[in-house]
Amino acid sequence: MTGAAAMSDTPLPRTRAAPIFAVASGKGGVGKTWLSTMLSIAFGRAGQRALLVDCDLGLANVDVQLGVQPQADVHSVVRGFLELDAAVTPVMGGPGRNGGFDLIAGHSGSGALGAAKLEEVGRIASGLSRLAPHYDRIILDLAAGIDPTVLRFARAADRLVLVTTEEPTALTDAYAMVKLLRLQGAQVVPWVIVNMAENRVKGRKVFDQFALACNEYLGFKPKFAGAITRDPRVPDSIRAQTPLPVRHPQSQAYEDVIRIVETLNAN
Ligand SMILES: Nc1ncnc2c1ncn2[C@@H]1O[C@H](COP(=O)(O)OP(=O)(O)OP(=O)(O)O)[C@@H](O)[C@H]1O
Ligand SMILES: [Mg+2]
Repeated sequence: MTGAAAMSDTPLPRTRAAPIFAVASGKGGVGKTWLSTMLSIAFGRAGQRALLVDCDLGLANVDVQLGVQPQADVHSVVRGFLELDAAVTPVMGGPGRNGGFDLIAGHSGSGALGAAKLEEVGRIASGLSRLAPHYDRIILDLAAGIDPTVLRFARAADRLVLVTTEEPTALTDAYAMVKLLRLQGAQVVPWVIVNMAENRVKGRKVFDQFALACNEYLGFKPKFAGAITRDPRVPDSIRAQTPLPVRHPQSQAYEDVIRIVETLNAN
């Protein structure tokens, strides 16, 4: 189905715009893209219409992880060929209780957008605010690193979901990201997720250390969204280009995601 057709199925705008969640990390490879997809599915199953936007403008891979072939992508939006709403691709039947959602895919391959100008990011951000009334949750999958375009997307969001692993390098980069955002004047208090944890208890301990550093040196307390266990079913499902809860209806990692969505929805 084309993006335009997808939007024509969209119910009337809601009275309140969807909160925008930016999934960021600093360090690459900590699971942002996988987690963004799982959040979109879990929000859908919790009864919320979700829109996932691949904001990794240089090396998009949400569509690759899912095995979908979008007919339009965010590249067309940035280049001015399409409005953001026409770039929407429904995944798993589109938003619904079966875990489907809408996707605005990134643009892989050329790398041309890797150096997207800040005003282009601004154009996407303002397009998002026009789409927000049609959804309950908007999830932005950000690129790794802390360059100005990543920070601009993070500031466009209502909530920052900061992903780290137990590794010191991931923690340092997550800390650097939140420090930079606060230096830019954003009073952001991130929701932290410790991914690929040995178990949830250890993940919580890693968060406590991180929170201590933020409190001592930056003067704020981050919030704990939850820990996700390292689970071999995750790479297995990515290799199969099939969402984890579809390929493995029972998995520790997806159960952890459900708990996180419950926490995010309750706060
Ligand atoms: N809970 C988990 N258990 C096991 N493996 C995981 C888990 N989460 C993520 N992974 C693995 O980590 C790899 C990297 O994930 P992903 O591509 O989502 O990271 P990323 O942060 O988006 O990377 P990039 O910074 O390059 O965009 C995946 O291929 C996946 O196999
Ligand atoms: Mg990614």
